Amino acid sequence: MPRIVLSSDHAAIDLRQAIAAHLKTQGHEVTDIGPTTSESTHYPIHGKAAAEQVAVGKADLGIILCGTGQGIMMAANKVPGIRCGVCSDTFCARMIREHNNANMLAIGARVVGEGLAFDIVDAFLNAEFEGGRHATRVDMIE
Ligand code: RB5
Repeated sequence: MPRIVLSSDHAAIDLRQAIAAHLKTQGHEVTDIGPTTSESTHYPIHGKAAAEQVAVGKADLGIILCGTGQGIMMAANKVPGIRCGVCSDTFCARMIREHNNANMLAIGARVVGEGLAFDIVDAFLNAEFEGGRHATRVDMIE
């Protein structure tokens, strides 16, 4: 089972905590690095914090959320070694792992509901990188 780090900004606290509970019921090792209050904050802080845990190997995968998922995804992708995609559907959630070897997933809490978010997370975690020609392309990104 991969070790998963979670973070969000203020716009996604409820969905982040629901995803953490969902993952724990599946037996995943989850580190939720917050924040825990709904006070307005800045998504780059939280995207970077989760991305650094993945980049140094404290976590295998990261799931990060903000209102759209876009801003926190952009922040995470600034950390070397991070490949994060924002997903609002299960197809892309699967493909970013199978083809892009994504190590982080971003979700917009103002975009998808809880049930779809759970399915997106499950699709991401259940997929595996296919390697081969895709590894060549991922190496080109790095
Ligand atoms: C916060 O209002 C909002 O801008 C943020 O959660 C996110 O959607 C940015 O990309």
